Amino acid sequence: MYHSEITGIGHYVPERIVTNSDLEKLMDTSDAWITERTGIKERRYFDPEKDTVANMAAKASRMAIERANLRVEDIEFIVFATITPDYFFPGSGVLLQRELELNGIGTIDIRNACSGFIYGLSVADQFIKTGMYKNILVVGAEIQSSLLEMNNRGRNVSVIFGDGAGAAVLSASNNRGKGILSTHLHTDGRFAEELYVKDPGSSRSPEERMNKELLDGPSVRAHMNGNTVFKHAVVRFQEVIQEALDANGYTRENIDLLVPHQANLRISNYLKEQLSLSDSKVYNNIMRYGNTTAASIPIALSEAWAEGLLKEDTLVCLAAFGSGFSWASALIRF
Ligand code: UT7
Repeated sequence: MYHSEITGIGHYVPERIVTNSDLEKLMDTSDAWITERTGIKERRYFDPEKDTVANMAAKASRMAIERANLRVEDIEFIVFATITPDYFFPGSGVLLQRELELNGIGTIDIRNACSGFIYGLSVADQFIKTGMYKNILVVGAEIQSSLLEMNNRGRNVSVIFGDGAGAAVLSASNNRGKGILSTHLHTDGRFAEELYVKDPGSSRSPEERMNKELLDGPSVRAHMNGNTVFKHAVVRFQEVIQEALDANGYTRENIDLLVPHQANLRISNYLKEQLSLSDSKVYNNIMRYGNTTAASIPIALSEAWAEGLLKEDTLVCLAAFGSGFSWASALIRF
């Protein structure tokens, strides 16, 4: 039976760098507050003249495919994780398929927010295990800056999020003990409204669904109850990492590199302490990109790859938590 290995990883971030001091000019915030509470120093914002979720994803995908030593036409299926698709529908998966000129291949979109990339890996892994496909592109890409409120009302959310794209090629392999060892997926919809964008929701009357008042109000923007999300995140992250270790008969000492969803540096540092991991075993790049939701893990993996941290035999644990609530982990032997 086949299993899947990550054979290439790539990323793309928009050129425009937005620093904490840039945000100080737009709202009552400070570099000191943002740095202390989140670890973020800067993030990237898209250029509406140039960047789309799908074309950023295409750039990340081309890098991943090249690093996998494959040709674009070797890709047989696309799994696209995003909560900020270019259109309300269809999903960005078909737009990426068009960008890459991969005529007729299947695509699916995943909307599990921060854990979307791990959900995508899991879906692709199942397709490969059944023998249905040999090379699948798994993408996480977001343009969130157009959704943020750049004022005091939105400051608790807007200072955190950024734009970017990451992609991985999953390929079928017979190499026993390598590749994706397991994935673990969870949700708890009781907390859906703790981190969400409410409008324009389809279950509203036509008059309520879209009107001028609505567009000026907060319900079309990302709402986050940061404290609640934080408290649940630290618990679920630990649980789901432990679940992945237990499923494979490993302990935390076996982890070579933890790549957590880049939600908040305080969360990553908390996990590092709880798991007694050294600094070098927890990958962080939130300082440079903020929280890029579904894109954060593949961007981090792509940078870790470029830094030579994903050498043969490295045991990598991915873990994520976010809107839904939804949380997930994956254990991967490179
Ligand atoms: O990726 C999806 C998962 N997301 C997360 O995991 C995010 C989890 N939550 C967080 O990271 C944190 O809750 C935040 C970074 C969002 C907020 O940090 P916090 O330490 O929980 O701050 P807080 O919301 O309790 O606010 C503390 C104070 C408040 O003022 P008062 O009431 O104490 O006077 C806020 O109004 O900080 C104020 N505040 C700000 N001050 C300056 C909120 N946002 C800002 C801001 N700049 N941007």
